[in-house]
Amino acid sequence: MNAYREQFSLDPRVAYLNHGSFGAVPKIVAQAQREFQMLEESNPNLFFRTTLPKLHDEARAFVAEWLGTTPELFAFVPNASQGVITAASALVTKPRSQIVATSLGYGGVLNGLAEIARRTQSTLRIAEVDFATGAQTAEDIADSVFAALTNETTLVVLDQITSETALLLPIDQIVRTIRRVSPHARVVIDAAHAPGMLTPALPADFDVWVGNFHKWICAPRASAGLVCRTSEIASQMMPLAPSWDFEAGFPKSFFSQGTDDYSSYLATPHAIRFHESLRANQLDDHNRRVVNEAAEMLQTHWGTEQVVPTEISCPWMRLVQLPLKKQLTKPECDALTLKISQDLKTETVIVPPGDATYVRLSAFIYNEPTDYEKLKLIDLNS
Ligand SMILES: Cc1ncc(COP(=O)(O)O)c(C=O)c1O
Repeated sequence: MNAYREQFSLDPRVAYLNHGSFGAVPKIVAQAQREFQMLEESNPNLFFRTTLPKLHDEARAFVAEWLGTTPELFAFVPNASQGVITAASALVTKPRSQIVATSLGYGGVLNGLAEIARRTQSTLRIAEVDFATGAQTAEDIADSVFAALTNETTLVVLDQITSETALLLPIDQIVRTIRRVSPHARVVIDAAHAPGMLTPALPADFDVWVGNFHKWICAPRASAGLVCRTSEIASQMMPLAPSWDFEAGFPKSFFSQGTDDYSSYLATPHAIRFHESLRANQLDDHNRRVVNEAAEMLQTHWGTEQVVPTEISCPWMRLVQLPLKKQLTKPECDALTLKISQDLKTETVIVPPGDATYVRLSAFIYNEPTDYEKLKLIDLNS
């Protein structure tokens, strides 16, 4: 077994090949979180009134600096879904606005955008990005977004790395086009997978960026960050639930959301330090090598092709097509994911984007190419 595996609490009987969905918390980071919880429990009144605000500010300053921004422009949010919807709600204030997102957007976020559009009598235009074997390049993706933009576009929501399809979108290229074609549009980046996997995590241009720390940084769940690019954008940012300190504005208004367990935010700097120690030990090279070798092994075994060009393939996740005559439906994919978990003691996810069915592989420091061999035993006839 890989030497890093012991540093996580993952069940040693299970091949854990889906770090991408919910991350995994190293024991040392879980311990740091427990210590914050014990401090809280030793004197809840003192903790919430005095200690927590100070610790929260310290954690915020640490994470903001690590991301390359300032504490005035950074707030913790629970997760990417809430962060992106928070930003979209704050930026779509006028009726009959025009929101643009892509067909590869995260389902929960697309639902939220549809509801914001409904409440504001706005329109949600979906840029159709093709997902079929070998069909897309960075240019094709940028062109699809371009086709959905107008001079009237108010808000564009883009994934830095797409969820189900694990594509690395050409964000800088797309944002340059948005600035030219839709100069009044605000750009919100759904960077759920970016922190830890991409360096730097923040793209060159954006208005609001939201990234998860509980995926590739290995922070305890739930921990994510929302970055405003300028103080003007920050002045428009408001939490979904206006509460104490609302009048103080961003980022203070995001902290005073009521009693909660904030230990995942407080432990995020510990996760970042752990992550930095892995990076110093070639984390990126390791993950790329493992996912590449595993994908090649399975493609050779199943006789299927590499799905997307390397330039738009995200570095640590990969889709491998299953050799099925008929595409599985979403419920059939979920059933197969569960069957693989139960029969093969292997955690992964089966997805049906475009016109085929794939297994989405993730690779992290505790994985080795041999972990993926059990996938060759997937029963494709049932
Ligand atoms: C692009 C994207 N957005 C949003 C999410 C949702 O993340 P969370 O459940 O942490 O809100 C994911 C999860 O994988 C994602 O990939």
